[in-house]
Amino acid sequence: MAEPVFELRSFIKDADAIIICTPEYAYGVPGQLKNALDWTVSSGSFSGKPTALITASTGGENAHPALIKLLGAIDVNLSESTTLLISFIRSKMDPAGNIIDAETERKLKDLFDTLLRRIELT
Ligand SMILES: Cc1cc2nc3c(=O)[nH]c(=O)nc-3n(C[C@H](O)[C@H](O)[C@H](O)COP(=O)(O)O)c2cc1C
Repeated sequence: MAEPVFELRSFIKDADAIIICTPEYAYGVPGQLKNALDWTVSSGSFSGKPTALITASTGGENAHPALIKLLGAIDVNLSESTTLLISFIRSKMDPAGNIIDAETERKLKDLFDTLLRRIELT
């Protein structure tokens, strides 16, 4: 097995939790992310791992459900409360990258609170 693949799988296996945050590219999951996740299929490295998925994009309606489906296939510990689609992300951040939309900030806080509870339970 190629060394970067081994490292990726080990990194995921050893982590308390994984946070995936991504834009949508060309109506789908960005190629690099899809490739990385594809390398984890059948490895068991993601199995039961508390995971959060944040799709932050102009739209994101295609990549987000595709990723939920993919993450289901690799048996991650994911639920509706640890997934968040943030559309129109540019209008919800300042130039420094801070979230300036109160509802988005609240949703992110709820998501991370849930993820932390999941870590404590595993
Ligand atoms: C090659 C490319 C394709 C994109 N395609 C989509 C798309 O299909 N849907 C979408 O919601 N945003 C798309 N976007 C916009 C991204 O959502 C946007 O770049 C993202 O919010 C990240 O912001 P940034 O470019 O400032 O890093 C695309 C951006 C690029 C560079």
